[in-house]
Amino acid sequence: MGRPKISIIGAGAVGATTAHWAVAKELGDIVLVDIIEGLPQGKALDLWEAGPVEGFDSRIVGTNGYEETVDSDVVVITAGIARKPGMSREDLLATNKAIIGSVVGEVVKRSPNTFLIVVSNPLDTMTYLTKHMSGFPRNRVVGQAGVLDSSRFRAFVAEALQVSVEDTQAIVLGGHGDEMVPLPHYCTVSGIPITQLLRKEQIDKIVERTRKAGGEIVALLKTGSAFYSTGAAAVQMVEAVLKDKKRILPCSAYLEGEYGLRDICFGVPVKLGEGGIEGIIEVELTDEERAAVKRSAEAVKKSITGLGL
Ligand code: APR
Repeated sequence: MGRPKISIIGAGAVGATTAHWAVAKELGDIVLVDIIEGLPQGKALDLWEAGPVEGFDSRIVGTNGYEETVDSDVVVITAGIARKPGMSREDLLATNKAIIGSVVGEVVKRSPNTFLIVVSNPLDTMTYLTKHMSGFPRNRVVGQAGVLDSSRFRAFVAEALQVSVEDTQAIVLGGHGDEMVPLPHYCTVSGIPITQLLRKEQIDKIVERTRKAGGEIVALLKTGSAFYSTGAAAVQMVEAVLKDKKRILPCSAYLEGEYGLRDICFGVPVKLGEGGIEGIIEVELTDEERAAVKRSAEAVKKSITGLGL
């Protein structure tokens, strides 16, 4: 029966951290791919050698080619450049378009039945590009953004209320940019809406911080962007698929009329299981939220147009 094979393309900050969280959960064997000679091999060997201490039986190999990725169950795409201070995610488009363009063909040639999770930015646009290049049905291509954005929202709520992060739940809809749409009235603490627990000004502040949370990290790091939380979020999605958990997670999915949107990858609540995207949930929105979703979708559409496909 063998272990599931998880290939991670890009062995930089996000790719290596994704591998780390994945083996900590013993989700399967890992193939780490990068163009820099020695980098994926070195990180893979180092991580593998931690196995006896941490007690995980995962084989981890690093490579500069794609042969090892044959018949992957899940592929996480993290290749590409990251933001530096002053840059928006959109500033990464041209460079990452070329990189993703070269990666996807190599991956799907060897794993035609795999499930693709995109992490590279600008996220919704790179997910759209990946779907386009792979020719995969929409259930097998998904972008990681909403799990991270919601995790940030949840962390800020837990901090404000001095409660466990475990008891917080949140949905962030829309594109993975500053126009994302956190939904406070769907944010709860053990089922209690936060609108009953926090004042409006406190919630507004949390919403604003959530929108800019990626930039907050970039401004601090100066040399790159978030990777611990990004990797953890990607691994939650990998786990949902490999263990057929049927989790409801906000993910970037290709829409075919949901939320009144078509031909766009956009953050929506998705049911993730062994069939990949097994469903998309349309939640009720206020007029204000609907307008915010529209603004966010316009920004993503503009970015997708910039791909010139
Ligand atoms: N094939 C494989 N790997 C590639 C390719 C390619 N064609 N081009 C670049 N890479 C690798 C780089 O060599 C580098 O090791 O991708 C890695 C990216 O790592 P980092 O620069 O550390 O960037 P990281 O922080 O991991 O972010 C990667 O995820 O969250 C997003 O916005 C972020 O787009 C960025 C991506």
